[in-house]
Amino acid sequence: MTDEEQTVAWIRAVVLGFNEPEYSDEGIARWLAAFVDQDARMRGVHDLRTGGLRDDRVPVATLGSWDTTVNVGGTLLPTNAISDVTTRTSHRRRGLLRQMMTADLTEAAQRGVPVAALTVSESGIYRRFGFGPAVQANQIRVRTDSSFRVTTPPTGRIEMVDRDVYLDRVRALFDDYHRRTRGSVDRGPAADDVLAGMDQSTGKPQPGFRYALHVDDDDRCDGAVAYKLVEEDSSAEVRDFVAPNPAVGVALWDFLGHSDLIRTITQRRARVDDPLRYALAEPDVYTVENRRDFLWLRVLDVAAVLAARAYLTDGELTLGVHDEQGFAAGTFRLVVSNGRAEVERIGDHVDDDADVALDVAALGSVLLGGIGVRTIAAAGHIRGDRVGDFARLMVCDGAPASITPF
Ligand SMILES: CC(C)(COP(=O)(O)OP(=O)(O)OC[C@H]1O[C@@H](n2cnc3c(N)ncnc32)[C@H](O)[C@@H]1OP(=O)(O)O)[C@@H](O)C(=O)NCCC(=O)NCCS
Repeated sequence: MTDEEQTVAWIRAVVLGFNEPEYSDEGIARWLAAFVDQDARMRGVHDLRTGGLRDDRVPVATLGSWDTTVNVGGTLLPTNAISDVTTRTSHRRRGLLRQMMTADLTEAAQRGVPVAALTVSESGIYRRFGFGPAVQANQIRVRTDSSFRVTTPPTGRIEMVDRDVYLDRVRALFDDYHRRTRGSVDRGPAADDVLAGMDQSTGKPQPGFRYALHVDDDDRCDGAVAYKLVEEDSSAEVRDFVAPNPAVGVALWDFLGHSDLIRTITQRRARVDDPLRYALAEPDVYTVENRRDFLWLRVLDVAAVLAARAYLTDGELTLGVHDEQGFAAGTFRLVVSNGRAEVERIGDHVDDDADVALDVAALGSVLLGGIGVRTIAAAGHIRGDRVGDFARLMVCDGAPASITPF
């Protein structure tokens, strides 16, 4: 089997694992190109005992990963992104995921990557591997009938554009968004393409998509939206929404909300602190249908992640981090001065006298300020005499956000 044939077999195994429809050759070719572009690593488990009933070159379990960055509020931190996690139904619950995940995290730690990230299809799987929910996102529904009115004065103007113009502009906009948004995960052109309606299984753009750009008074493009019209019920679904400045997001919605013939619009991955609701004359036209833990983080190097983020207040305390898999375990002294941290490992085990003790998944949850220390403490995962001081140290200005599904 050539490298390419092996990769195609791996991709077919992922498609099978997610119960997706068969991919066309074009769909597979696009996936392959995206993998090469990302320099992705493909793990697979092969079961050679086939009884002559299946192709042993197709893996029975898969896990993909690649190097990316997460904006941790101050720094774009090198990150091991994990995706395409599947085990064939006939081989489930025999420890294959655990085997692949352990190997992937071990290699990431050996490469010196301080954190791993993933998004989940089921929320019960990854805490046992040290991942904690870190960035939340809302699924919203906005009524866009005559009660929709934005009270803020309009800025700039909107241009409706063709798909290729949109794709050309959204690249630089995403880069700007990524630099400015705590919680953002970097993504490449293939992800832009899929979010703008490329059907991954056929490798062809889906019909019914519309694209709009927001342009400021100096003719600079500063916001973009891709949305799909659903004619049957006069609605639309926002599929990608790139507003590096959230105020420009309000202007994009002002445009969307005044689309003729559309009575409701939904958006996945809306910011949990979306300013739109408060810019509306009738906030009740805006409904949060669902809030999801969107991005999960797994800290591998405590000192590196705590030193990478910014802090609003100064302080000093010791942290004991429990980690069953060992990567992040230890006791650390965290000293924050002028908003930056110095972190020193002062022991390989959790010191009973540490000011605060927490498990590694809890550290992932509070790292970006998406979930408060007090909340995770009340849930039972952070303990100690100085939980209040830790809570004040970890507070951030506004909620983190991400628009990168993977
Ligand atoms: C999720 C999936 C990859 C698990 O693979 P697996 O090889 O059966 O997992 P393992 O046998 O290695 O299980 C490892 C641990 O995770 C637990 N686990 C596995 N799947 C779980 C699930 N869906 N929910 C809760 N726990 C789960 C196991 O009980 C086991 O726990 P333990 O080791 O603490 O006792 C597999 O069920 C699958 O392919 N599902 C469909 C695709 C999918 O949802 N992928 C995840 C994308 S985010």
